[in-house]
Amino acid sequence: MTASYQAIQLGRFANRFRDGSAIIDLPLRDPAAGEIRVRNHYCGINGIFDTQITRNAVDYVAIKLPTLTGVEALGVVDCCGPGVTGFQPGDAVVTTRFPGGYRQWNIAPADHFVRVPDARPEWLALASTGVSAVVALEQIGALQDGETVAISAAAGGLGHLLVQLAVLRGCHVIAICGGADKAAFVRGLGAHRVIDYRAEAVGDVLAAEYRDAIDVAIDTVSGAIFDALLDNIAPHGRLVVGGAAQDLEGRPEIVTAPRIAHKLYYKSASVRGFMNGLLTEHWPAARAKVFDLYRAGKLGVTFDAPRLAGLDGVFDAVERLLSGQSCGKVIVDLR
Ligand SMILES: NC(=O)c1ccc[n+]([C@@H]2O[C@H](COP(=O)([O-])OP(=O)(O)OC[C@H]3O[C@@H](n4cnc5c(N)ncnc54)[C@H](OP(=O)(O)O)[C@@H]3O)[C@@H](O)[C@H]2O)c1
Repeated sequence: MTASYQAIQLGRFANRFRDGSAIIDLPLRDPAAGEIRVRNHYCGINGIFDTQITRNAVDYVAIKLPTLTGVEALGVVDCCGPGVTGFQPGDAVVTTRFPGGYRQWNIAPADHFVRVPDARPEWLALASTGVSAVVALEQIGALQDGETVAISAAAGGLGHLLVQLAVLRGCHVIAICGGADKAAFVRGLGAHRVIDYRAEAVGDVLAAEYRDAIDVAIDTVSGAIFDALLDNIAPHGRLVVGGAAQDLEGRPEIVTAPRIAHKLYYKSASVRGFMNGLLTEHWPAARAKVFDLYRAGKLGVTFDAPRLAGLDGVFDAVERLLSGQSCGKVIVDLR
C-alpha cells in the first residue's frame, strides 16, 4: 500500500488551469468515522468550470486557495471507517462532489458517494453528466413527449446525452454543434435537424425552419446561439440556461439591445437557469432513469478519443475540452 498519493491542487489564480495548478503529494490516511477510502479509476473533465475557478470567475463559488480540484470520479472502495453502512471494500462508487475528481485517492464522508454496478467508466458519465441531462430536460425544461427541442454543444459530454434523451421522448431534436464530424455524430444519435454553426448561421436556420416553434431549448453556449433560441422560442416555451461557454474568453459579453421582456411575455415563455448542484433532490430518480436506459441499451455513452491517462493527462484533457475538438464525454484514466 502506498503511503502517499497525488492530486491536483489549485494554488494560485491564473488564466489557464495548468498554470495555476500543480500535482502534489498527500498522505494516504485511514478513513475516520463515517468516511470511506476510495481508489479513483477515472475522473470526468469539466474544463470550463476548471478554467473559471482558476480565474476566480465562478459567481456562485467562493474559491479559497489552495484547493484540490476536480468534481466527478469513479473508483473502488478500499476500506471503510467506523460506523459506515452501505459500502464495503471492492464496491464501485461515484462521487460528484468537488473536489473529488482530480486525485488518485479520495477519503471523504460516505454520503459523498453512490454505489454503481461496476467500475466501467460509463457509470461515471451516467451518474454525473447523465443526471445533469435528465434534470435539465425534465425538471427545468419540463419536457413533454413529442415537443420540439433544441440543444447547443450537442456533441459534447452533456449534449450527446441530452440529444438521446429527447429522441427517446419522441421529440423533434435540433442539434447545434461546430464541425462536420460532430454533426455526423449527433445525426447518428437520432437528431432530426443538425445545425453545424460553422457551415450555417443558426439564427437564419431557426428563423426559416422553426419560427416560434422551439418548445424547449437547453443552451450551454450563449452568445448568438442564445439569441437565436430566444428569438424562436414557442408560445409557452422554456429556454434553459445551463452554461455560457462562449463567455469564457471574453468575460460576459456586453450586449446593447432591448430587454428581453417583450420576447417572453407575448408568448408566455420563460428563460430558466439550470444549476445541477442546487437540484440534488432530483438526483436519485434521474440516476435510476439513466442507469435503466443504459442497461436496456436505449442510452449510449460516447467517450472522447484519445483517452488520456494519469494526473498529467488531466491538464491535456482540460485543454482538449476547451479547444472545442472533443466529442462525447471527456474522462481521464487514473488507474
Ligand atoms: N449548469 C450545470 O449544472 C451544468 C452541468 C453540467 C455541465 N454544464 C455545462 O454544460 C456545458 C457542457 O459541458 P461538458 O463538460 O459536457 O462539455 P462539452 O460540451 O463536452 O464541451 C464543451 C463544448 O462547448 C462548445 N463551446 C462553444 N463555445 C466554446 C468555448 N468558447 N470554449 C469551449 N467550448 C465551447 C464546444 O462545442 P461546439 O463547438 O460543438 O459548440 C465544446 O466542445 C459546459 O458549459 C458546462 O459548464 C452545466
